[in-house]
Amino acid sequence: MATNLRPDSMERITTFAQAEAFIEQQIAEVRAQVGDKKVLLALSGGVDSSVVAALLVKAIGKQLICVHVNHGLMRKDESEGVVKTFRDELDANLIYVDATDRFLDLLAGVSDPERKRKIIGKEFIEVFADEARKLEGVSYLAQGTIYPDILESVKAAEGKKAVKSHHNVGGLPEDLQFELVEPIKLLYKDEVRVVGEALGLPHAMVYRQPFPGPGLGVRCLGAITRDRLHALREADAILREEFSKNGLSEKVWQYFIAVPDIKSVGVKDESRYEGWPAIIRAVNTTDAMTATVEEIPYALLHHITYRITHEVEGINRVLLDLTPKPIGTIEWE
Ligand code: XMP
Repeated sequence: MATNLRPDSMERITTFAQAEAFIEQQIAEVRAQVGDKKVLLALSGGVDSSVVAALLVKAIGKQLICVHVNHGLMRKDESEGVVKTFRDELDANLIYVDATDRFLDLLAGVSDPERKRKIIGKEFIEVFADEARKLEGVSYLAQGTIYPDILESVKAAEGKKAVKSHHNVGGLPEDLQFELVEPIKLLYKDEVRVVGEALGLPHAMVYRQPFPGPGLGVRCLGAITRDRLHALREADAILREEFSKNGLSEKVWQYFIAVPDIKSVGVKDESRYEGWPAIIRAVNTTDAMTATVEEIPYALLHHITYRITHEVEGINRVLLDLTPKPIGTIEWE
């Protein structure tokens, strides 16, 4: 582990000039490491994998093969944004896999949160491995490991217990063993963002709020159904749009909608209208271990409630979650 630790002499990257120097140094290191071999990367669209992808496109161009797996649990327009940025704008080699049906079929009827996570994590690896097996001559796997991940694994090795299993791309099967390329493994998140901006990635991508690996799967509470997942995605898009318009998207650490598998009675067009509630969660934290609730102005809450209940089929109430962490976790599952 010692070789993975950040040397005391390493300066914190806060400026563009420092980021550019870091990028140049990593380009040289990656080229020296991989030569003319191909490198594979699971590109989720999150900050870390996006920064690694942009860095490697600069270093090795089409030798990098990005695979974006859409598990059907992404937020509205998110996968499209990944394709637009990387394939259209950066001219990256990108394989887009729409695996929505594979995931949603496996998740049908499964209500236990940890089982849902395990199914999503395992299937993710299988879809990614299926794509990797179709390719020839890949020797390396790039990963968006960052310094807190390294510190976390040090803790895990010391036997500290996690509340939820936050695994994303875990170990690949035996037949797919690659050497790792981890160009940002010594960086903290704020440094990754500075590097991302210096690489020319869109601001919204670099400052994207954290999004769990299992995606909307842990926000469509209980057994996921396509209609409730659709309602959740639309309601979440409205919340994000309103937060962005009202200057909250860069102020609030994480904000989203959760939709439980509960129906209540409502009234619409003078008829009985049964629907699900959309629960707003908006929290601030520095390390995700504890969190406080953002005080959203009431006028904005009324506006969001109006929009969600009028624009989203199947939602007839909007609720606000005022619970700090602890006692509530940030996600509902
Ligand atoms: P909790 O709900 O544990 O969340 O308070 C803390 C932070 O972790 C994120 N989270 C996950 N991230 N896979 C992930 O990659 C997961 O299974 C997962 N569960 C929670 C959560 O969004 C919050 O930022």
